[in-house]
Amino acid sequence: MTDKDKLYIFDTTLRDGEQSPGASMTRDEKIRIAKMLEKMRVDIIEAGFAIASKGDFESIQAIAKAVKDSTICSLARAVPGDIERAAEAIKPANRGRIHTFIATSPIHMQYKLKMEPPRVLEQAVAAVKLARNYTDDVEFSLEDASRSEFDFMCKIIEAVIEAGAGTINLPDTVGYGEPGEYGALFGRLINAIPNADRAIFSTHCHNDLGLAVANSLSAVMHGARQVECTINGLGERAGNAALEEIVMAVSTRQDVFPVQTGIDASHIVPTSRLVSSITGFPVQPNKAIVGANAFAHESGIHQDGVLKHRETYEIMRAEDVGWHTNKLVLGKHSGRAAVKARFEALGITFDSPESLNAAFERFKDLADKKHEIFDEDLQALVSDVVAHEAPEVYELGTMEILCRTGQAPSATLELGIDGRRHTCSATGSGPVDATYKAIESAVNSGATLKLYSVNAITQGTDSQGDVTVRLEKDGHIVNGVGADTDIVVASAKAYLHALNLLSAPGRSHPQREGI
Ligand code: KIV
Ligand code: ZN
Repeated sequence: MTDKDKLYIFDTTLRDGEQSPGASMTRDEKIRIAKMLEKMRVDIIEAGFAIASKGDFESIQAIAKAVKDSTICSLARAVPGDIERAAEAIKPANRGRIHTFIATSPIHMQYKLKMEPPRVLEQAVAAVKLARNYTDDVEFSLEDASRSEFDFMCKIIEAVIEAGAGTINLPDTVGYGEPGEYGALFGRLINAIPNADRAIFSTHCHNDLGLAVANSLSAVMHGARQVECTINGLGERAGNAALEEIVMAVSTRQDVFPVQTGIDASHIVPTSRLVSSITGFPVQPNKAIVGANAFAHESGIHQDGVLKHRETYEIMRAEDVGWHTNKLVLGKHSGRAAVKARFEALGITFDSPESLNAAFERFKDLADKKHEIFDEDLQALVSDVVAHEAPEVYELGTMEILCRTGQAPSATLELGIDGRRHTCSATGSGPVDATYKAIESAVNSGATLKLYSVNAITQGTDSQGDVTVRLEKDGHIVNGVGADTDIVVASAKAYLHALNLLSAPGRSHPQREGI
């Protein structure tokens, strides 16, 4: 029994998180993440923006079918077409929410919406009423709330609660808020609005000034009871408040927070890794909770202190957020059952015996090259299998790389292009540069390389390199991923994966205009 209020955790990794340039996910990838979020006991999963694309719509629908314990939500602008599409997408859910929004700040109303405040209010009320025809669970967001006028917010919030909104979200859309001011805004609004007790107030903070988590927690101290956040802080521009930081701040500082979440924190690290490997966005080593160094003690004084009494330098236990899963090591003698069990512990399941076999074969290949296989290797391996499951236009055959001191490195590759073999070669400033030039000499994609990053997946020189390549073409951005113990091979795989995504309709991420 507890006298604390419940703090609802609303995860928007699959919606706001996916709005990060290059972070597009396929429907199956979104389902895998949604199932992990459900396991973690996330209260509400914002699965997408139904009207934005056919892919978004189908993903929300599929998640609504696959996930039974969390509420499934779709975003919708405050217009009938959006709301009807959102309602259709969440129909299969046990519990479905429509999250409708309209901007309320003077700058957004004047320049973006070109609407006077009374019309904005009218449209907001009409949207909530329409959404209530489809579900009892309607959330209303005042976009750019942190730059909106107080009196206008009071009016619109009172009216949408009257119209049936059960959750009122006050986004700090542009990351402009400061903790004292943003938190106090919640207290002032909750006090001033006569029917405020009929709704849950929610935070949604962007991290442009690095204050998203601080702002969200300050709002909680002033009455917010829902926090919108994302795994690893993924999201538009500098991202959203990081779920793992919100959850662990609240549970570690129960002496100050008047709330408790229902989250099972032991799934945090595996979920963080899954999101990172699917999106190709690496987690920085010093990232709180989920960074590789978050629980590593380098200084001798700290190590000595931790050995004598752990709490001298540790405020949380690494195993409580899922780090212990790292320790189990698999190797070339591990059998199919052990590998399958490890995959399952990481939230990875296989639809058919064939896909388990494919993953097991890759595991065996990797175990031949690498002595010990860690959870991170398995995550990368599955992303690699999934990445290459879709029909491929471009396939990697053999590679020959020559690097000799004093000479330009050269690469010769055999590629499959639409089922036909091509040989291509080039020199470059390094082996990766030579490889990409060779590929482009055969493919001529016209795409621009926006990002190239290599990360060692685990420690040691036999670690797999995890490569992310971001390509842009005609306003579409894709992230290709590839993993291998040879980083030049991983780089070639990632580049070809990105080209395959660009060539597959619906798999690249158009940067959504006005959305
Ligand atoms: O940042 C924002 O304002 C949003 C809303 C659509 C909730 O993402
Ligand atoms: Zn947002």
